[in-house]
Amino acid sequence: MPNIKIFDTTLRDGEQSAGVNLNLSEKIEIARQLERLNVDIIEAGFPAASKGDFISVQKIAQMVKNCSVTGLARGVISDINAAWEALKNGEEPRLHTFIATSPIHRQYKLKMSKEEVIETAVQTVKYAASKFPIVQWSAEDASRTELPYLAEIVEKVIQAGARVINIPDTVGYGTPEEYGKIFKYLREHVSSIDMVSLSTHCHDDLGMAIANSLAAVENGATQVEGTINGIGERAGNAALEEIAVALHIRKDFYTASTRLNLKEVSRTSSLVSKLTGMIVPANKAVVGRNAYAHESGIHQDGVLKEKTTYEIISPELVGFQSNSLVLGKHSGRHAFKNRLNELGLNVPDDDIKELFTAFKDLADRKKEMTDDDLVALVLEEKLSK
Ligand code: KIV
Ligand code: ZN
Repeated sequence: MPNIKIFDTTLRDGEQSAGVNLNLSEKIEIARQLERLNVDIIEAGFPAASKGDFISVQKIAQMVKNCSVTGLARGVISDINAAWEALKNGEEPRLHTFIATSPIHRQYKLKMSKEEVIETAVQTVKYAASKFPIVQWSAEDASRTELPYLAEIVEKVIQAGARVINIPDTVGYGTPEEYGKIFKYLREHVSSIDMVSLSTHCHDDLGMAIANSLAAVENGATQVEGTINGIGERAGNAALEEIAVALHIRKDFYTASTRLNLKEVSRTSSLVSKLTGMIVPANKAVVGRNAYAHESGIHQDGVLKEKTTYEIISPELVGFQSNSLVLGKHSGRHAFKNRLNELGLNVPDDDIKELFTAFKDLADRKKEMTDDDLVALVLEEKLSK
């Protein structure tokens, strides 16, 4: 029974990536794919931000049937009203409202005292709960907020009607140990915490978004937020496909699971990359082009004997066709011979040694050897006899 809900914010925080601007039909295409991926919640946008955002949240809320759709609102009544208009015809209208809680945001951005922030949060959550069946409240910059104050405001917004409490590491500042401790602290110091879903939302400024999200799960988070391919503000958000696959592959370690349809991961990643124009780095975990490619001779030999020697995730699990043994200057004779056989180029064992030397000479000059290169090598070898 899956115990971790996946909250996808590709269409909201992900679309906040610099240079990304999705139109309505692109957003609908991504939402449909997220539904196939089986995420639990889609954050479709920020209805008060623009007319375009309002319409796309409205359309997606009406269209999506297999998961809950939410929209973002600041702790401001007009934002909540706009979100209600956009979401009210959905299967399960859900609001995501937030206010910053850290000293730095209170002082410089909001210019509000601790008490004023609590008052605003409580009033807006009460108002939202009078309209929406489910209200999620986020403490923006939670990871830089004083813990006793964070516990106090969380307790009060739960009493005001929040059903999901999100603890964002808004600027990607936390370390796994510190961030995990916030969840433990809230579980121990907020008396009504078991009444709500406790959510993690991490940014990747220091490259720790995945580790921080998993630390939150270990310390009692029951919802994980992130985006496909980790796109998002600045260095991005936690990549959902990485979290879901980590929980799946290391189920011996994490006693947590999601309901994601992992076979749809590669298709979702390609679609998001294509429509946002944000290229997936070749070495990216889980969905990078090289994630299942083996180049060195030692690795290729191992994988040919037994895949699990160097492959902890099978590419088929996440919807890729198969692994690939990339032939290059580090490749060994075993992989070379294997590829020749796959291409139907049956070279007698006596000739392999010489051919392999020619292959290595050419591979030294080229980055990657193609099948055409191999055919040419075999033909040359035959002609020279
Ligand atoms: O990173 C953040 O704090 C956010 C909030 C709006 C939840 O995206
Ligand atoms: Zn965010």
